[in-house]
Amino acid sequence: MAASSFESAILIALLLPLTTSALSSNYYSKSCPNLFKVVYPVIAKAIKQQPRNGASILRLFFHDCFVNGCDGSILLDDTPTFTGEKTAFPNLNSVRGFNVIDDVKAAVEDACPGVVSCADILAIASLDAVHILGGPWWKLKLGRLDARTASRDLANKNIPAPSLNLKGLKTAFENVGLSEKDVVVLSGGHTIGLARCVTFRNHIYNDTDIDPKFAANRQKTCPRSGGNNNLAPLDTKSGRIFDNFYYQDLVRKRGLLHSDQALFDDVATDDLVLKYSKDETEFFKDFGKSMIKMGNIKPSSGTHLEVRKNCRVVNT
Ligand code: HEM
Ligand SMILES: *[C@@H]1O[C@H](CO)[C@@H](O)[C@H](O)[C@H]1NC(C)=O
Repeated sequence: MAASSFESAILIALLLPLTTSALSSNYYSKSCPNLFKVVYPVIAKAIKQQPRNGASILRLFFHDCFVNGCDGSILLDDTPTFTGEKTAFPNLNSVRGFNVIDDVKAAVEDACPGVVSCADILAIASLDAVHILGGPWWKLKLGRLDARTASRDLANKNIPAPSLNLKGLKTAFENVGLSEKDVVVLSGGHTIGLARCVTFRNHIYNDTDIDPKFAANRQKTCPRSGGNNNLAPLDTKSGRIFDNFYYQDLVRKRGLLHSDQALFDDVATDDLVLKYSKDETEFFKDFGKSMIKMGNIKPSSGTHLEVRKNCRVVNT
């Protein structure tokens, strides 16, 4: 029996908001055909200048997506009348890479003015950074928009702390629609980059689920008091190469953060960590899948959205 036009209209009305907000791989193929070719060299240059930049960009994307979806909210600067997310506890004196995003945005605005959102730029920049550092490539979906708002409170609430155990990490991920497996897979992002002493001090002095030699070594540059900003690599092989060594570290009880070692600690995720420690191909495949999932986290309905001209300020 054919549906009445009334029923069809209802069906279309129900489907429309979903289809228009869904991300797609060819979103800019007409409006900005060279987008990927424009972004890639800017990221390559930034990483060449300073390898840590790649890690910092990837983390920015994570901290953007966990706070009301991937909407570029983390990129907004504070002003006398606007409080953004940069001063939230997990971000303050910690997140970096904003200048690199500015450089990408400038290049993209040059090629296709007013078309590409900062949220999408962050997504593309993260993919490029991972790839340039030796990691996987995934089929990125685009079409995100930039929020005209940000939330310091939500950043404080949603971004997981390094003091968490598996249960707490799982809850933080489930709160944004991600799974326990995503916790293990995406924590693999810690194969690159650095952490400050203040974020791992308690783990290297007080925890028992740590290789004593590794702990002693890290204590050399992270004293019991002072030196809060001293840096150590999150992965003992190289903070500059995206590989599966992070998981090999966990198996040897050389996780730097309490939350890293919590994934291999006589817990439910031990087997998955063990698998990735032996099978880099599997890790790379799953990392791409989980990045697509994380990149799909949507801003709540009612969020005012736009394509920002300058990633640091809302359009006037
Ligand atoms: C599972 C929960 C997570 C916790 C508790 C956590 C915590 C942290 C902490 C404390 C730092 C060091 C920050 C500082 O020194 O100020 C850090 C760095 C980093 N995180 Fe995570 N993280 C988590 C998940 C992720 C995810 C999902 C990604 C990306 C897929 C990621 C990517 C990074 C990167 C690349 C760095 C190094 C950044 C740089 O060198 O600038 N992390 N993380
Ligand atoms: C070790 O744990 C104790 C008790 O919770 C705490 O007071 C102390 O500050 C911790 N030490 C370090 C170096 O984090």
